[in-house]
Amino acid sequence: MSKNIKKIGVMTSGGDAPGMNAAIRSVVRTCAYHNVECVGIYRGYEGIMEGDFKSMDARSVKGIINKGGTVLKSARSKQFRTPEGRKIAHEQLKKAEIDALVVIGGDGTFNGGLVFNKEYEFPIIGIPCTIDNDIFGTTHTIGFDTALNTVVDCIDKIRDTASSHNRLFFVEVMGRDVGHIALNAGVGAGAEEILIPEENLGLDRLLESLHRSKRSGKSSSIVVVAEGDKIGKNVFELKDYVEANMDEYDVRVSVLGHMQRGGSPSCFDRVLASRMGVKAVETLLEGKTNYMVGLLNEKMELTHLREAVKGKSKIDRELLRVSEIMTT
Ligand code: F6P
Repeated sequence: MSKNIKKIGVMTSGGDAPGMNAAIRSVVRTCAYHNVECVGIYRGYEGIMEGDFKSMDARSVKGIINKGGTVLKSARSKQFRTPEGRKIAHEQLKKAEIDALVVIGGDGTFNGGLVFNKEYEFPIIGIPCTIDNDIFGTTHTIGFDTALNTVVDCIDKIRDTASSHNRLFFVEVMGRDVGHIALNAGVGAGAEEILIPEENLGLDRLLESLHRSKRSGKSSSIVVVAEGDKIGKNVFELKDYVEANMDEYDVRVSVLGHMQRGGSPSCFDRVLASRMGVKAVETLLEGKTNYMVGLLNEKMELTHLREAVKGKSKIDRELLRVSEIMTT
């Protein structure tokens, strides 16, 4: 165990995700277990620069494992991207005698941590937490599983009304650059078509597929569209295009939006967050820095932050094939 690390700061940054609180709880309790002080930092890197810190003991995180959002709040900081901002951040951390950081967030959070480490050799470990599941080095990010359950629940409800009115629904789900939410929730909810940025289906093939569904006797359809999909400018343009080229369907759009980021975390996300928090703190105490903890082959593994931010996690090709078979 490293004798140099006596006080660890923990923060959440970037888009929030269900399970962030469970991760904070785990970091705080693991610090308490190892007799290391823990300091909560509000609003991510913004809070570091403002010295917005509060000491956290094991009891301070009671009753939060089941809560969505983040008790430490979150932000995306522009000032921390500047050398001046990072200098202020370093001074604040020194003043508060914080020796190391656990940063909970996505690739933007990790990029910030890497630059900061390079400039100040400040020990940092990352915990991947975003509903998008777009981080290399872990099969699951915290929040992804809960978001999937939320999306499937919404699509089940949309299907009820779609089938009552024989309608075609385009359901837009989050996923800025990747289609993990769309693909997994689409398969889980039995969508007729799934549009993701990784696979450009094209408008002609989409129409062809919708005609085929109609001919096969389907009276209503659900098409799940990842927000980062490039097939049309946006989901409303897709609706217009399909309506202009297909008069068999009455078309509606439903954009699920930020409700996907809220809610009580699933058991899977709570367990994952608890495991990742323990691994993050113990990795710092072993004297390591610049790693992200991740779930690989059911085990907690480390990936260098540089690798984690370089590559996006790839879409599961086998699941893509399953989705194609299921939509026939
Ligand atoms: O990265 C998570 C995410 O929810 C993306 O899926 C989405 O594009 C983005 O954040 C939305 O960000 P904001 O909350 O700033 O609108």
